[in-house]
Parts: sequence; C-alpha cells; structure tokens
Amino acid sequence: MAKGSGSPGFGVDIGGSGIKGAVVDLERGALAGERVRIPTPQPATPDAVCEVVAQVLDQAGAPDGPFGLTLPAVVVHGMVRTAANIDDAWIGTDVVALVEQRTGRRPVVVNDADAAGVAEARYGAAREVAGTVLVLTLGTGIGSALLYDGRLVPNAELGHLEIDGALAEHRASDAAREREDLSWSDWAARVQRYLQHVDRLLWPDLIVLGGGVSKKSDKWLHLLDVRPPVRPAGLRNDAGMVGAALLAASPPGGTAA
Ligand code: BGC
Repeated sequence: MAKGSGSPGFGVDIGGSGIKGAVVDLERGALAGERVRIPTPQPATPDAVCEVVAQVLDQAGAPDGPFGLTLPAVVVHGMVRTAANIDDAWIGTDVVALVEQRTGRRPVVVNDADAAGVAEARYGAAREVAGTVLVLTLGTGIGSALLYDGRLVPNAELGHLEIDGALAEHRASDAAREREDLSWSDWAARVQRYLQHVDRLLWPDLIVLGGGVSKKSDKWLHLLDVRPPVRPAGLRNDAGMVGAALLAASPPGGTAA
C-alpha cells in the first residue's frame, strides 16, 4: 500500500455508461480536482474507449507521473482476460500498451472492484479492519475485491458464482433490480441469499457494499440479515478513481502492469 504522499495521483474509472477521471489527493483519499465524466462510447471498443481516456486525462488536467485505470474485467499483468459487461474485443488486449500508444502515458490497469476495494481498505469503510474483508460493488454486474489485512488478492470474480442455477450478478446486481423492477425488499432478499452463499465460502470479518446503489443504502441495508457485519462503502462512486490512483502510486506485485 502506498504511504501517504503529498503528490497528487490520478485515477480513471471506465464504466458501462461513463468514463470518469479526477486528480486524487492520496493523503485524504478524496478527489482533489474537477471530476470529468464523458459518456462511454458505443460500441465500447478498446480504440474508442482509449480515445475517451485521452480526453479525460486532458480535460481533468492529469499531472505528470503514473495514473491508474480501472476496467470492469479481469486484468492480469495489464492484459484483459474477460469481458462480461464490456465489448468482447477487449479480451486479449494489452491495455497498458494500447493506452500508452494513445496517450503517451503508461497506466497501471486494475479491475474496477479491486480498485474500489483498496480504496475502501485504505480510506473508507474497511479502514484499519484486520482479517478478511470482502468489498462488493453492486452495479451493472457484481464486482468483488478480496482483502486480507488490507492486502488485495486480485481478480476475485465472486459476482460470477452460480446460485440457484443463475449467475449471482444476473439476479442480485443493481441492474437486475432495475431491469426486473424489483421492490427494495425483493431485491434485498436476493442480495441476502448471495451474501449468505459468499459467507459460507469465505467467512469474511466484514462485507462492504458499494456501487451507485450504496448511496441509497438507507432503503435496503437494514433488510439484510447475514452473519458478518455489513457496511455501506465510504467512498461511494469515487472509490474506483481513488483506488486506481492509489495503486498507480504504489502498485503491489500482481495487479500492476
Ligand atoms: C466483471 C468483473 C467486474 C464487475 C463489476 C463483472 O461482470 O466480471 O470483472 O469487476 O462486473 O464491474
């Protein structure tokens, strides 16, 4: 993990609907400049997305130095390996090389939920929590970050667990709630079933729930009845940008390019 540093970092978070970037204060774990958001191009091919990443860096005034970039995909040593909710053309892309070619700057590229997880562990709801912490992002899919004593085990894909014959993220993501027009209690019942399953596999000391829907946690968090403590994410939707910037400033072995 990065030591607090006076120098600003920069994080870019690539999502299904928007590509966001901002200067990040790595002491506080908060945005330190204007948050630039540009709609994700459709189709979201690697080339089209890299163009937008270049615009975000420019418009947000990214400082020189390393910057972090998230993708909603498994990323191993800078190579994209899966594409559950992004264009299939990403699979096999050397995203570090592509972004460097487009922007002249070499990013550290990480899975979006992993970035959110390290941000929560360092600055947010999982700060100073020892043992096993699971950070889950409930959005278009379900992203997961597995941490032990604050250290990340990269590319855990727990949204892809199969429960009752369906992928967890197809039933319990926020997108599933919207798609099926579920009430908060019906959706919470699905999230609870999912959390109970994950709990039996990993026995976490804490589960942190993030993603855009964490902003509305007063509507549904109290409906969950599960063994481990559950907290809403502290950094909400900024966690991806903050975590990416943090990892770029001090990449642990394994997740960095
Ligand atoms: C992907 C994960 C990603 C999550 C959240 C899942 O479909 O497989 O890599 O973290 O969505 O975006």
